[in-house]
Amino acid sequence: MAATDDDISDVRSFLAEADLTLSGLDAASVRLWIERDDGGRIVGATGFELSGDARHALIRSVAVASDRRAQGRGSALARFALERATDAGAGTAWLFSRRSGPFWQSLGFARADIAELAAALADTHQVRLFRETGQLDREVAWSRPLATAS
Ligand SMILES: CC(C)(COP(=O)(O)OP(=O)(O)OC[C@H]1O[C@@H](n2cnc3c(N)ncnc32)[C@H](O)[C@@H]1OP(=O)(O)O)[C@@H](O)C(=O)NCCC(=O)NCCS
Repeated sequence: MAATDDDISDVRSFLAEADLTLSGLDAASVRLWIERDDGGRIVGATGFELSGDARHALIRSVAVASDRRAQGRGSALARFALERATDAGAGTAWLFSRRSGPFWQSLGFARADIAELAAALADTHQVRLFRETGQLDREVAWSRPLATAS
């Protein structure tokens, strides 16, 4: 389900535990979805942020609760974000990942140039933050084309 303003504080705790970036989670340009278990605990998250021209999507905030990993949930959540980004008109998906490269490769991503990612998605929160903090140069970029309707 789509995350609402009421979910943001739980989402922040969940993503912090997964060691993911918290910047811009409440921005209108960031689309987020979450899954909760029967007790209301967040067990999965996925999302993306579009470039201003909507041609590029920065996949972000994909995480599964640590006790629920390795059951295909992460792949399903990532695919969901890729489908929604395609629906939104994006032709290329990009992301930062230093630790989960093999996971993203299994979803069709290949290593990409950080400078190309930063140029395509210059106006996104994550790129602006990583530029400001100098983290950009230490990141690893990945990308894949998205199927377009035409
Ligand atoms: C990355 C993450 C979302 C994967 O979730 P998951 O539910 O375990 O993923 P899946 O069960 O769909 O795994 C799919 C495949 O990727 C592999 N994989 C998952 N995480 C991996 C990792 N960090 N490194 C290498 N391979 C990984 C799995 O072994 C599996 O391979 P298989 O199909 O050959 O068995 C989860 O580990 C997580 O939340 N990590 C912390 C947050 C994070 O790093 N998110 C990505 C950056 S946005």
